[in-house]
Amino acid sequence: MGRFETIVDQIRDTQNIAYEQLAYIFEHIDAEKEQYLYAQARAVADPVFHKAVYLRGLIEFTNICKNDCYYCGIRCSNQNAERYRLTEEQILSCCDMGARLGFRTFVLQGGEDPYYTDELVCDLVRKIKALHPDCAVTLSIGEKERASYQAYFDAGADRYLLRHETANEEHYAMLHPANLSGAHRKQCLRNLKEIGFQVGCGIMVGTPHQTLLHIYEDFVFMRELQPHMIGIGPFIPHKDTPFKDEPMGSVQQTLYLLALLRLVFPKVLLPATTALGTADPMGREKGILAGANVMMPNLSPVDVREKYMLYDGKICTGDEAAECRRCMELRVQKIGYHIELSRGDHPDFK
Ligand code: 5AD
Ligand code: FES
Repeated sequence: MGRFETIVDQIRDTQNIAYEQLAYIFEHIDAEKEQYLYAQARAVADPVFHKAVYLRGLIEFTNICKNDCYYCGIRCSNQNAERYRLTEEQILSCCDMGARLGFRTFVLQGGEDPYYTDELVCDLVRKIKALHPDCAVTLSIGEKERASYQAYFDAGADRYLLRHETANEEHYAMLHPANLSGAHRKQCLRNLKEIGFQVGCGIMVGTPHQTLLHIYEDFVFMRELQPHMIGIGPFIPHKDTPFKDEPMGSVQQTLYLLALLRLVFPKVLLPATTALGTADPMGREKGILAGANVMMPNLSPVDVREKYMLYDGKICTGDEAAECRRCMELRVQKIGYHIELSRGDHPDFK
């Protein structure tokens, strides 16, 4: 066994990664070695998840956002984005359709839209939970006060997704305007965890100015946070943002990181993201074969899909939820996995 394989085994056995190990892997990986890495990631995931892929129905309910992140297509200063908000009735009917298609998790994602007060969010969560008591509700609506998070939790929300984007605060400042800070973002995640949510953090791979040291710092932060979910995908430039001419993040590096995350966090929920599927037509399948175990098909009404453009070229914008659902089933089966329609809680939450 070579040094590469020994390092992969050490990461698996210690569930930890040192900077030198990360750097060695990124420098020496080739077509053959990457297969070893992915095989080890699957060997860790399969006894926990038994080749199940959990589905989450994603409802993108508002693309109005008060923030101005340099990478994001729905940033407030993008005048070309056509703005929309779904009504409560529309959101509830997305959930109904999702439930009929077998989804047991609804992810309500949106920009940081001040229209949705805590009261409105709580009302919505309570209604969804009353109509679908067997379903989990995940919120992904950005940075809020701790009291707001507590109110959402008390209203019945089960999970919260808030990517930290990068754990390094100088790097964070290169991706965001000065009114946003990495420190605050990380504090939000700690608050969410303390309140009792199943919490998801995550990063984009290949954002401008990202270094391997930053990625190492992401591992350190996540080892401390111990999130239940980790969402990662390649950075993809959007034509109406300051990063429009920046190169796209690497699909391969995203796959290496998915595999390494699986080794360090054996039980974590790890989506094969839409960004990964956008950057490579087989990206999501490759992600699952590198250790991912979640997919998040879109349940938003087709007429708003094009408007929730965080990055250029986003896939599935023309497909009805039922088509996406079927498509995912076929894709997952083709690679020897199966769709699981339970709530798909983190193993420690069952
Ligand atoms: N490319 C890839 N991912 C992006 N996101 C936002 N903009 C982009 C982009 N241009 C991701 C961020 C955010 C999540 C909802 O989408 O990580 O947290
Ligand atoms: Fe709102 Fe990026 S501008 S999430």
